[in-house]
Amino acid sequence: MPILELKHVSKIYGAGTKALEDVSFAVEEGEFVSVIGPSGAGKSTLLRCINRLVDATQGAVFFDGEDVTGLDKKGLRRVRTKTGMIFQHYNLVERLSVMENVLHGRLGQKGTLAGMIGHYSEEEKVEAFAILEKLGLAEQAYKRCDELSGGQKQRVGIARAIMQRPRLILCDEPIASLDPSSSKVIMDQLKEINQTMKITCILNLHQVDVAMQYSERIIGITAGHVVYDGPASRLDQETIHQIYQSRSGALITDRAERAV
Ligand SMILES: Nc1ncnc2c1ncn2[C@@H]1O[C@H](COP(=O)(O)OP(=O)(O)O)[C@@H](O)[C@H]1O
Ligand SMILES: [Mg+2]
Repeated sequence: MPILELKHVSKIYGAGTKALEDVSFAVEEGEFVSVIGPSGAGKSTLLRCINRLVDATQGAVFFDGEDVTGLDKKGLRRVRTKTGMIFQHYNLVERLSVMENVLHGRLGQKGTLAGMIGHYSEEEKVEAFAILEKLGLAEQAYKRCDELSGGQKQRVGIARAIMQRPRLILCDEPIASLDPSSSKVIMDQLKEINQTMKITCILNLHQVDVAMQYSERIIGITAGHVVYDGPASRLDQETIHQIYQSRSGALITDRAERAV
């Protein structure tokens, strides 16, 4: 059984913007999938429909055997706990320490009171520190997040996601704000987590070359439609042009600037 399956998912935003139209695909446990497509294609909406940050207008999303589209609050909390999310702008609590941000990854699994007063067990702290060590952030553990570089902040974002012990990690443009060398560190770490911890990863990426370098499978979307779903090795120039439509010129500039 696939860990994730989208069946005929469509999303129309309030004003009538069709962000996704009849999107269907399945992802097996342990896959590392990149979603590419021009700005406005529906990539963020797609990821957000998976953990219900956005509600699909039509269709169903099965995660770990259950349809998340019909879940109540409790069920939704369970699904979100199993789904780590990594954002372009990190979404950390900047005034708190690195450790505190990583521990927040465990919030979803706590009772309301323990979560509210920020009570974490010694085991949880040891685990958080071990994750930071693994990601090369041991020295930053007690710094405030606003003292870190962008690349370090994104590593904290990854650590927080791992702290959730997720089955799936969704990354929305994880390297779009980073320089090439920090981008490489982040991509290498995501790949490592995928391979050693068997956590399924789905990444929205703006950079085709990075997607091709790191993922076995690529999903290309244009104007809310899946126009390619297959191995990175079969993604040819013609398909790339089709995905990016008339934006192929911009794409080449982007790739040159952002090559990792
Ligand atoms: N909250 C929203 N309200 C209304 N329209 C939205 C909202 N979020 C995204 N859209 C629109 O949906 C389309 C897809 O957006 P998005 O999923 O952000 O694409 P991408 O991540 O590929 O850039 C765009 O036309 C965008 O303007
Ligand atoms: Mg987006």
